[in-house]
Amino acid sequence: MLETSALPNDLQAYWLPFTPNRDFKKRPRILAKAEGMYYWDSEGRKILDAISGLWCVNAGHAKRPIVDAIRAQASQLDYAPSFHFAHPKVLTLASRLCALGPKGLDNVFFCNSGSEAADTAMKIARGYFSALGQTGRYRFVSRARSYHGVNFGGMSLGGLPNNQKGFGPLVPGTEHRLSIPYDPERDRFSRQDLEGGENYADELQAICADVGGDTIAAVVVEPMTGSGGVYGSPKNYLSRLKEICDRHGILLVFDEVITGFGRLGYAFAAERYNVVPDMITFAKGITNGAVPMGGVLVKSAIYQAFEPKSEYGIDLFHGYTYTGHPLAAAAGLATLDVYRDEGLFERARALEPKFRDAVLSLKNAPHVVDIRSVGLAAAIELEPIAGLPGKRGYEALTRAFFDEDMVVRISGDTVVLIPSLIASDTEIARMVEGVDAVLAKLN
Ligand SMILES: Cc1ncc(COP(=O)(O)O)c(C=O)c1O
Repeated sequence: MLETSALPNDLQAYWLPFTPNRDFKKRPRILAKAEGMYYWDSEGRKILDAISGLWCVNAGHAKRPIVDAIRAQASQLDYAPSFHFAHPKVLTLASRLCALGPKGLDNVFFCNSGSEAADTAMKIARGYFSALGQTGRYRFVSRARSYHGVNFGGMSLGGLPNNQKGFGPLVPGTEHRLSIPYDPERDRFSRQDLEGGENYADELQAICADVGGDTIAAVVVEPMTGSGGVYGSPKNYLSRLKEICDRHGILLVFDEVITGFGRLGYAFAAERYNVVPDMITFAKGITNGAVPMGGVLVKSAIYQAFEPKSEYGIDLFHGYTYTGHPLAAAAGLATLDVYRDEGLFERARALEPKFRDAVLSLKNAPHVVDIRSVGLAAAIELEPIAGLPGKRGYEALTRAFFDEDMVVRISGDTVVLIPSLIASDTEIARMVEGVDAVLAKLN
């Protein structure tokens, strides 16, 4: 039982993100403690975390070496400015990340979130071409159903209309979208990664023909669409995109904010799909969710293009007060150790087929119209209630929490499961049974 001081005494002040606030405040869902695969609420009820925090707690909650590293760092060096100065851990983390990532991405810029990483990558792309004198390259091509965070750059690239509605005008040059490489009629309930996909990548060729490939700075894609509903890349899709980008001198950016750090069984999805992009954005799993951190891995040619002419000239007029924060850097290093020492990326790879089979067992459950599963992420798509999109999904989330002691994620009427890389077979089975029980009760 937790102390009563942990109980909420005022629900009014807090404005929750991406949440129906009024309904939340009628019956709040409070998570007061966490360890491993579980939360506990203020009354001590044990709740299964079926979504790795929010795609971030890949190694399970309250991992001892990470907690200890943060604690030790707070008393050693709580803060150091990132403009004109550095500290030992951020240097080590930068080197280790570059060693972990695909060959050729030899520099890293740190920020504090996936949203900042998206906007940072966009600024680096435009700044790079400006430095090369190609000032006409300002456009970005992204994808339907994509999510690149909520800041103006990433929001403008996004492909989920609700996230843009009411916030315009968007960043100029961001209006082009490729389709998601998925045909529901053909691909639903797939048991393995999809073949082919070149035809979807070729849409980029058509955009180049239309607006001029030399006006496009970068193509930004999630190797697996996450928030938009778990869509992986067919086997030849990303390599064809890279080929077309190279042909037109366009940078390819992978948003690996959720696919990074083991979600797809590798350090980065670039490795799984065997394609090296020009930049990778990351966040979330870099610190196991314990301290905010994000960043962009870049090819060294991009970094070098920014080199100033004088000793005192600044390369990049961009950065954050908390770039490479000591607590985040310490957490990041400890997290990378945990991933390596516990073999968690390999574990995720081994777990993937079992997880896929388990979620596909829900195929004939009520309301289910598709199930997509890639790595340790699965979307169970439900038929929306006519005229009330999102209602069934939201009911699934609340029922999972109150009736099944489980935290799930929803994307509209799609229920998403995102087990931590430490999940046991029993916990995977529990997630699926919990969703099954919820589906049986839904309106
Ligand atoms: C692919 C992707 N990019 C960017 C973001 C934004 O990250 P953050 O919420 O840390 O700003 C997310 C968040 O879920 C994401 O899934």
